[in-house]
Amino acid sequence: MEESMVAGVAEAFSRVDGVMHCEDVPLTELVARWGTPLYVYSKSAIRERFRELHEALAPVPHLIAYSVKANGNLGVLRNLAELGAGADIVSAGELHRAQLAGIPGERIVFSGVGKTVHELAAALSAGIYAFNVESEGELCSLSELACAMGLRAPVALRVNPDIDTPTPHAYTRTGHAATKFGIAAARARTLYSIAAKMPGIRVRGIDVHIGSQILDVAPFRDALAYVLDLAHDLKREDVDLEFLDLGGGLGISYEGEKRITAAEWAAEIVPAVAETGLKLVVEPGRFLVGEAGALLTRVLYVKEGGGKRFVITDAGMNDLIRPSHYSGWHAVEPVEQPGRDRARVDVVGPICETGDFLALDREMELPKPGELLSIMTVGAYGFSMSSQYNQRPRPAEVMVDGAEATLVRRRETLEDLVAAETGLDAG
Ligand code: LLP
Repeated sequence: MEESMVAGVAEAFSRVDGVMHCEDVPLTELVARWGTPLYVYSKSAIRERFRELHEALAPVPHLIAYSVKANGNLGVLRNLAELGAGADIVSAGELHRAQLAGIPGERIVFSGVGKTVHELAAALSAGIYAFNVESEGELCSLSELACAMGLRAPVALRVNPDIDTPTPHAYTRTGHAATKFGIAAARARTLYSIAAKMPGIRVRGIDVHIGSQILDVAPFRDALAYVLDLAHDLKREDVDLEFLDLGGGLGISYEGEKRITAAEWAAEIVPAVAETGLKLVVEPGRFLVGEAGALLTRVLYVKEGGGKRFVITDAGMNDLIRPSHYSGWHAVEPVEQPGRDRARVDVVGPICETGDFLALDREMELPKPGELLSIMTVGAYGFSMSSQYNQRPRPAEVMVDGAEATLVRRRETLEDLVAAETGLDAG
């Protein structure tokens, strides 16, 4: 039996006698049971990433608040909850999922620029660890609401350090002043002293999140320096802090690029945080789950036109929007290595839009209709950003643990597509 690692992708996926496996399970077997398109996650890959980070942060008291938006499947959340992870949530829906997965309130932080009163109330009732407040308006609403509920809301202000973070796409940069995120650096100190006097607020920490898919330690270093400076000033003003939240953003390897290891990252961060005596909160999403997932799809047709060759698959931009929305690059691997001639192709989906593609101008072994492809590194922002556009039921999701595969979300049905609509009942 010959085993080989799939180039540039997570160790969770490898080939045995040419057939791609997730851990010990051939992907062909998963497709035979559950069809395509199918999201597949490796449980041990997620676990290993969590442990890597947990060990790197061991010298300081810390909370790894997994960013639920990356992949909110309950199987994924339960896996992380059992390892001791908390959750970074941005909506009542994510709070609901975190609670269903057994993540206790004291391990939940709530981020986002547009929290509704209903969402603030739900999170107050859940006894979450901190609200990462992003505006003065939100701070006032929260104080008022907490008073009405006879509570004090634990708060960190999310500050905007005005750092121009290098990320692969402008949409994933959140640390510079001209974005909607956080409280302007110039206003942060004043707002902290206002917050400290509000009856419904208990100031607990400082929060930053500068962007996503960051492969360089320098921006994290800059953000930390900003936060430490602010913490120092607040201490002088007797504002009592308990934690620093450095957000998420740690990058992963999509194309074989070198990612920052948790140890390299921690070496930059941990010593300075240790000196403060404060707890460190981090909100990784992609880092924990991105490389642990693949999307399996079947080739429907191969056609030529306009000097191009198109490989048409049964997965489209509604199943995976990253290539189209962020020019995201994902490896496309034949599930069974046919060893055919290579050709330059566009891998496209069935959706009625020219922007519906999974890979453009990609040199790969030319597949035949009926064959399976695996789109790699889609564990983060894959299923979680999927939609039913073009009335396509969303894919099933499977979790693999060693030789065992468990369906963690069934494929949607045509009935699911219309289940929430009331039009037919009217009259
Ligand atoms: N904390 C906050 C406040 C965030 O806004 C985010 C991500 C995270 C943590 C987690 O970031 P991560 O560790 O996953 O980089 N859909 C885009 C990424 C959007 C990130 C949004 N915020 C993509 O597919 O690249």
